[in-house]
Amino acid sequence: MTKYVIRGKRQLQGEITISGAKNAAVAIIPAAILVKGVCRIENVPKISDVTKMLEILKEMGAEVRLVNSSCVEIDCTHIRTQTAPQDMARSIRASYYLAGALLGRFHHAKVPPPGGCYFGVRPVDQHFKGFNALGATTDIQNGYMLVDAPNGIRGANIYLDVVSVGATINIMLAATLADGLTVIENVAKEPHIVDVANFLNSMGARISGAGTDVIKVRGVKELAGGTYTIIPDQIEAGTYMVATAATGGEVLIKNVIPKHLECITAKLIEMGVTVEERDDAVLVRRAVPLRKTNVKTMPYPGFPTDMQPQAVVLLCYAQGTSLVTESVWDNRYRYVDELKRMGANIQVDGKVAVIEGIGDLTGAPVKACDLRAGAAMVVAGLAASGVTEVEDISHIERGYEDLVEKLKSVGADITRVEVPDGTALRRAQ
Ligand code: UD1
Repeated sequence: MTKYVIRGKRQLQGEITISGAKNAAVAIIPAAILVKGVCRIENVPKISDVTKMLEILKEMGAEVRLVNSSCVEIDCTHIRTQTAPQDMARSIRASYYLAGALLGRFHHAKVPPPGGCYFGVRPVDQHFKGFNALGATTDIQNGYMLVDAPNGIRGANIYLDVVSVGATINIMLAATLADGLTVIENVAKEPHIVDVANFLNSMGARISGAGTDVIKVRGVKELAGGTYTIIPDQIEAGTYMVATAATGGEVLIKNVIPKHLECITAKLIEMGVTVEERDDAVLVRRAVPLRKTNVKTMPYPGFPTDMQPQAVVLLCYAQGTSLVTESVWDNRYRYVDELKRMGANIQVDGKVAVIEGIGDLTGAPVKACDLRAGAAMVVAGLAASGVTEVEDISHIERGYEDLVEKLKSVGADITRVEVPDGTALRRAQ
């Protein structure tokens, strides 16, 4: 077992460079299935979800070449199967993008339903609604989503009943090589949706409107290879912004798109944190005690659900009572019990968490329940008094590149420790 050991109460000071966006990378890599030719993708984050996605493509017959630690070339010209390997694919949420890409290129896909972090049922009805409108049949059998369009994919008008990132991207992928025009309404507007559209356009697709409520996809006959650079990771940047605020430090967070961070910046400023925007960086400084605030997660440009656990941790260090409402997922507060081990005073009732700011947390052994909850435990430990040991860090390493090295470079006392099996921390029952 591997864990992080954090000695808290060190103010973070210095500079951190943000990696490429996980949520863009895990959609752009399967999108390469639509392309005949070599896709050279730059600013790829070095995280385990990306490694798994590349392994899946290799297993399906793609040629994958690592050019350097952040650049990969993928050639899916000779992909030999439309079935995603069950064991590998079901461990990551984004494997559902294989369905849209395979449907678009081969009119057939057999892909396990989404895995990844568990914080509620992950329905795919809106993905299927879109595929059906494009002329495909859909079913779930024997642990696979089956999508078939023996007569090809035809453009259609699709109105999403729920604002879904996954469905928006998946339908966009399927429609890229369709016959005619597809109009998708009530779509999600996250930066990584725009990034996937830009990637596809740079390979020859004709997609407009990404980043607005309506995306139009004019089908093209085929896509050819090219080079594309992934955007910086909004959530990684937001996590380090919160960590800086929690420890009362000052960090320049580089290689970001400040516009993508505004939803996070606005809440930090409400809490008394100074955030100065530069062209491609933000300087975060906390000089005064944190103030309470209320947060509600929403689709972009609202406050991201992927920043909710980190926000809750920060509010534990604020003065006064704050309310957090999780409006995207049903079950995203499982980590609160872990925070309570550190002394947090939080009551959860359904989608609402009431956080009594107590100004300080105390180190304890805690678990990373999922990716962002794990990052939140790290933030909690960095600002807490004493030693925090975070277990189950494989969740965190799914989505944060070089977390330990980046935090050490700004003065954190954090180490990654291998613990022989059987000697893991014993918890009080
Ligand atoms: C969601 C987040 C995304 C985040 C990701 C990983 C939103 C809108 N989406 O994306 O920012 O990066 O989790 O944590 O914030 N839904 C349906 N039917 C469907 C698809 C989704 O009802 O077919 C519902 C889900 O239950 C959920 C909501 O729509 O309540 C948003 O889901 P969706 O955006 O698809 O999830 P992800 O793509 O995983």
